[in-house]
Formats: sequence, structure tokens, C-alpha cells
Amino acid sequence: MSRAPLPAFHDDLDGCFAQAWRLLAEGVERGRSGFHLPALATLGAAGAPRVRTVVLRAVDPGAGTLRFHCDRRSDKAAEIARNGACALMAYDGATTVQIRAEGLGTLHTDDALADAAWAGAQPMSRVCYGTAPGPGTAISAGGAYALPDADEAPALGRPHFAAVVVRVAALDFLYLDRRGHRRARWDRAGAEPWTGRWLVP
Ligand SMILES: Cc1cc2nc3c(=O)[nH]c(=O)nc-3n(C[C@H](O)[C@H](O)[C@H](O)COP(=O)(O)O)c2cc1C
Repeated sequence: MSRAPLPAFHDDLDGCFAQAWRLLAEGVERGRSGFHLPALATLGAAGAPRVRTVVLRAVDPGAGTLRFHCDRRSDKAAEIARNGACALMAYDGATTVQIRAEGLGTLHTDDALADAAWAGAQPMSRVCYGTAPGPGTAISAGGAYALPDADEAPALGRPHFAAVVVRVAALDFLYLDRRGHRRARWDRAGAEPWTGRWLVP
């Protein structure tokens, strides 16, 4: 029985690190990648974890940052404003890789980064930020909310738009392969460089 060769990163710690960031970057571009829709965990007001799906919008492997977008009226925006602790996790079945990233999230609402992210957003994404009333508001019936027209979205949506940049401080990579699972983790403190180690999967 022929078997695909083990991937080049299998016993290469730096290779695993590069593969993790490559897969995350691919997740931004490819809707079918498991890394396109990571779960984002934040800390609720009472200190309990809260988790939901977000679209991964940008990755900067050099800076070690991830970006997603949200409505600044949402619970997650309030949670990040209160305590920036964020964790993102995704699994991609095609590559059998799980990536977990932990770090500090920063909300960008009225700066150049938010402007550029808004400018790069698709018209159909922009419309969501103009929803009235705001996300999470209790309503009398399922459809008792309004979305703006595409031409109204820039004016109505932009004030509610936020880009969140997570500066990753811990990255956990898990590769599943019957011939030998591999798990590695990298940490960095402040401006220090990354230090990585193998872990038992
Ligand atoms: C496929 C999918 C993609 C989503 N992408 C986003 C996103 O990029 N940003 C966002 O704020 N919410 C996104 N959501 C909605 C959130 O998962 C969540 O339901 C909503 O934002 C409310 O979360 P919160 O009350 O914790 O703020 C997405 C949901 C799904 C199912």
C-alpha cells in the first residue's frame, strides 16, 4: 500500500511554526480552509469564557498577529475592550492540523487600520454593521430588525465597525498522523522572540 510521505515539517520544529502561519494565511484567502472560520474565545464580564465563530480576515506572520472584524456594539467588542485576552482555535480536516492561538486583542475603531479594513470589506459584509437595533438586542419577533441598503451601508455601518488585531503570545500546533502525531508550542513574552518546544500530543 502506498502512503503519502510524511510532511517535511513532521520532525522540524521551525518547519511546524512556518506551516502554522502558512495555514493561517491560507485561511484568510480560502473559504474552504478550516482556518477561515476560527472559534474566538473571550472573557465574559463574570470571568466565564465565551466563544463564537469569526472570519479570519488577515494574518501577519512577521508580527505574529491575526485580525478579525466585529460590530463595536457586540458583546465580544465589549469583552475585548474590558479585557483583551483572546484565544482563537480552528481545525482543518484536509491537513489534519489544529491551531490554537492566545494573545491580546486590540479594538481598532477610528484609526487608519480600521479605515483600511473597512475599505477592504465586501459591500455585503458592510451591510451587517448597519443593523438596527444593534447585535444581541432582544426583539419582539425573529425578523424585527432592519439592515441598510448597500448604498446606505457606508454611512450607517462604518460607525459600528471594528477591526480586532490579536497579537499572538502563544501558538499551539497539533498535527494528526497515524504514523506519529506531532504537537509543538511557541511562546513569546513582550518583545522577546518566539521560543518553541515539542509537546506530547
Ligand atoms: C460562519 C460564521 C462567521 C461569522 N463571522 C463573524 C465575524 O467575522 N465577526 C463577528 O463579529 N461575528 C461573526 N459571526 C457571528 C458570531 O459567531 C456571533 O454569533 C455574533 O457575532 C455574536 O457574538 P457576541 O455576542 O459574542 O459578540 C459569524 C458566525 C458564523 C456562523
